Amino acid sequence: MIDARQLSHEYPDGTTAIRNITLTIEEGERVAVIGANGSGKSTLQLALGGLIDTSTGTVEYFEETTDAEDVRDRLGVLLQDPDDYLFNTTVREDLEYGPAQLGMPRQAAARRIERLADRLGLSGLLDRAPFRLSGGEKQRAAVASVLTFDPDVLLLDEPLGAVDDRYRERILELMTAHEGTVVLFTPSPDLVPEVADRVILVGQNGSAVADGPVREILTDGSLLRDHGLRPPTTVQLFDGILDADEVPLTVSEARKYLSREMR
Ligand SMILES: Nc1ncnc2c1ncn2[C@@H]1O[C@H](COP(=O)(O)OP(=O)(O)OP(=O)(O)O)[C@@H](O)[C@H]1O
Ligand SMILES: [Mg+2]
Repeated sequence: MIDARQLSHEYPDGTTAIRNITLTIEEGERVAVIGANGSGKSTLQLALGGLIDTSTGTVEYFEETTDAEDVRDRLGVLLQDPDDYLFNTTVREDLEYGPAQLGMPRQAAARRIERLADRLGLSGLLDRAPFRLSGGEKQRAAVASVLTFDPDVLLLDEPLGAVDDRYRERILELMTAHEGTVVLFTPSPDLVPEVADRVILVGQNGSAVADGPVREILTDGSLLRDHGLRPPTTVQLFDGILDADEVPLTVSEARKYLSREMR
């Protein structure tokens, strides 16, 4: 579905942000790309989303094209900075923009927007100017704006940074409910087991240093620490107490384990 070969990118000032990354993401996969600050996650996202011309390498989409513009309507690319999305006069116009560009019937678009606005607590903010939203509200509006046109692939760069717990859960639910492919880019391993089954770890020099099942990578404390990250909190908590194949990866798994053991 997304087939990236030997992607490297050097910015004009000479910074090498990603190095020789080759990866394939299949239809319906849930993948988390994790890595420390500055490791190259956002650059990789831009490359996969076809928003930069990488120095080397190619990305093939849906086995049909290497030009992202041919499949723009199938890619939902949420950039790290929500301000990059919100450029119309009102939040409503921002949410209507994607569906209108793609020629989605007005009524269907309106229904989708209404549902998303309701889920993401934006209903009362639709007539507000985007720059008058709080940080978390902006982020919710940006998330809504990539979901309005129901793309086949979501490439989401840190969609939860400024969002409170209630809406964090809602966004995670929307990601889980999404029927297509989801790729989440985040520096926070804690979030990963909630949405992904596969993890790609980007090392601090911008190369992909590991790619495998969530449990295998997130329970490997020394691998994560070598690349500037730490395992999820529950993994740290049960480290040395439970084997890697039993360690709870999420709070709800930890609760289940404890309630079983303490009965
Ligand atoms: N426009 C740019 N020009 C020059 N260097 C850049 C540019 N954008 C990013 N970089 C550099 O490229 C490297 C990778 O940056 P990138 O934004 O991809 O990292 P990241 O993993 O997304 O980090 P974060 O977790 O902080 O979002 C960093 O060293 C960064 O300073
Ligand atoms: Mg980033």
